[in-house]
Parts: sequence; C-alpha cells; structure tokens
Amino acid sequence: MNLTLKVWRQKDSGAPGQFETYQARDVIPDMSFLEMLDVVNEELLAKGKDPIAFDSDCREGICGMCSLVINGVPHGGHRGTATCQLHMRHFKDGETITIEPWRARAFPVVKDLVVDRSAFDRIIAAGGYVSINCGGAPDGNAIPIPKDVAEQAMDSAACIGCGACVAACKNASAHLFVSAKIAHLALLPQGQPERYRRVVAMVAQADAEGFGSCSNEGECEAVCPKEIPISNIARMTREYVKALVVAGK
Ligand code: SF4
Ligand code: FES
Repeated sequence: MNLTLKVWRQKDSGAPGQFETYQARDVIPDMSFLEMLDVVNEELLAKGKDPIAFDSDCREGICGMCSLVINGVPHGGHRGTATCQLHMRHFKDGETITIEPWRARAFPVVKDLVVDRSAFDRIIAAGGYVSINCGGAPDGNAIPIPKDVAEQAMDSAACIGCGACVAACKNASAHLFVSAKIAHLALLPQGQPERYRRVVAMVAQADAEGFGSCSNEGECEAVCPKEIPISNIARMTREYVKALVVAGK
C-alpha cells in the first residue's frame, strides 16, 4: 500500500503548528499504525530530517500512551481499539490519512503528536487511590465481593487513561476518565473509607485542570478503546451528590 499522510507538526506548545505531507510507501497491511509511522520516521532520519514525534509504550492496548486523532477521530474510530492496535488493513491503497494530536487546553502539545497528559496524573493524585497499610498480599477470598460488583469494578478499572474521551468531547470533558476511576473504587469495600472525599477532590482537580463539563453527547464512550460506559458518569454524579449530603452542604 502507498499512502499520503497529512501530519500535524509543531515544535512545542508555544509554536504555531501546521500540517505537513509525507508519503508512506510499501506499507504492509498487517503493520500496526505505529509501525507504519516508524517506517516513515526511518526514512525521515535517513534523509537527515526531524522524525515525527508520537507517544507509545506497550503497543498492546494497555498503557494508554498512544494518542493520535486519525482522520478526525481519536484512535481512528474502530470500536474498542487503541491507536497501537489499529492495523493498516483498515485503510485503502492510495488513501490520504490525516494525523493530529489530542486537542484540549488541559493537554498542551509537547511536540508534533505528543501532548502533556499530566493533568490526569494530578486528578489521580487528588483521590484515585486507596490508603492502606502495605503488607503481604491478602487471601483472595478474605473480603467477599459479589461477582457482579467485582465485574463492574473491573470493567471500570480497565480505563487506561489515554485521554481519547477528552479529545472526542466538544467540551474537552474528562468525565468518562474520572468517573471510571471513581466507579472502580466506590464499588469495592476497600474504597469505602475515602469514598466521598475522593469524588469531591477528583472532580475539583478536573475543574482546576481546565477540563470542561459533560453535556451527555456520548462521543467519549464511542471512542474509548476500553469501551468504558457513559453510565459511569451518572454514577459519579450520584456519588458527588451523596458526598455533599454527607458533608451537610
Ligand atoms: S475512559 Fe476510555 S477514552 Fe477515557 S481515558 Fe479511560 S480508556 Fe481512555
Ligand atoms: S501504546 Fe500502550 S495503549 Fe497504545
């Protein structure tokens, strides 16, 4: 396959960016999208040019690092698929592909297609944890948890923190991400002691980082590579209201 790539190039967060056009030649359909970019970068390096900066780590859909808007859709628009799991067989020979970074005020561009997602780390630091004394791993059945509750918590824990939900949302809302973390811990007995403090602190931090609010459009759920359901956002709202009641506000 031969493809034309229109890639966003930007020196740093302060510099203006622009699209530049590259040819990707002899692309093998079984390559992943990131492998295709690796080949383009090899060619750029061989010519002494600056390679395209993009993020990746695990390349198997678990780390949340890959973050490309492909043809206008975060992760390329294949259900439950992160950019690193997207294969070139989904594209046609001769096609032009547009590649951009996540675009949100809270995710400033570091370079080209790399954005700074440390805002998510600060939201987690605000409350996305359980304070326990570390020791030996407890016996698996020491704390009985109904199977359906455990499964709901695990489904929420599947969020990889990629930020596609933010990139897809016209309000740049982080609600799907925050709600997945809150649901994960609020459902489990281990999350109860800090349950209400957690939701208030994490929502406040998301606001402080500049993420927008949710207007229930559902783009976040549609692009999420882990198919986190938007129903988590309703759960987060209930948790937040309960927290205010508990605090007597
Ligand atoms: S909710 Fe989905 S899209 Fe949002 S950060 Fe988590 S895995 Fe990524
Ligand atoms: S590189 Fe880890 S999820 Fe894509």
